[in-house]
Amino acid sequence: MAIYAIWNNKGGVGKSYLTFQIASEYAKTHPNQRVLVIDLCPQANASSMLLGGIVKGEENLVAIASEPGRRTIAGYIDERIRSPYVSPKVGARFVLNVNVYNDQVPQNLYLVVGDEALEVQTSRVSNATNPGPTDAWRVVHSWISDLIADIRHSWNVTDSTVFIDCNPSFSIYTELAMSASDRFNYPLLCGWLVQTSSTCCVGASLRSDATEGSGTV
Ligand SMILES: Nc1ncnc2c1ncn2[C@@H]1O[C@H](COP(=O)(O)OP(=O)(O)O)[C@@H](O)[C@H]1O
Ligand SMILES: [Mg+2]
Repeated sequence: MAIYAIWNNKGGVGKSYLTFQIASEYAKTHPNQRVLVIDLCPQANASSMLLGGIVKGEENLVAIASEPGRRTIAGYIDERIRSPYVSPKVGARFVLNVNVYNDQVPQNLYLVVGDEALEVQTSRVSNATNPGPTDAWRVVHSWISDLIADIRHSWNVTDSTVFIDCNPSFSIYTELAMSASDRFNYPLLCGWLVQTSSTCCVGASLRSDATEGSGTV
């Protein structure tokens, strides 16, 4: 089981759609596992799709971000800004079961919801990498790993498959996503297919031993 970051520094290449698709399909084909999506993009498009699509999904997003306790990625980051160098072990508070909001997705699919507030937290997260202990940079770059560990602990498992949707920018929260991942999925938009008005997503799963790869065109 692996932790995948889905990233490309270009917007509109299908990162969020691919995250939505592969996480849903993986959950469907692995009904005995809990599958986690972490939406680390302030646009929260993967969350919107998972939570019911363009109308219902957006309504759910607004409702979730407005509830006390803000059960979104920004709610968790707020907790970490308050406790940057010692994990408060509160990550499990920020995960929700997608099927409660959208019964079209498998019941074993879980989500840490994306949140536009992530963007305004950027400088505070970056600032936390400077003061404090000598390894502050490393500790801050472990925040998403801590979040995953908290959620796995609450599930009473030591391993699970995780998909992290990233923002195209190489901002601090993208660094956090990369640091938490052990595989990298890089969707591409192929120019020659654009001319035929089709989108092509090539998912290359890269591992250190480079023995695995997958792609769909
Ligand atoms: N494989 C695909 N085939 C056709 N359209 C796609 C595909 N993947 C994504 N799209 C569409 O392309 C647009 C951009 O996709 P999105 O996932 O939001 O990109 P990104 O997250 O990289 O910015 C969306 O309208 C989405 O529905
Ligand atoms: Mg996106």
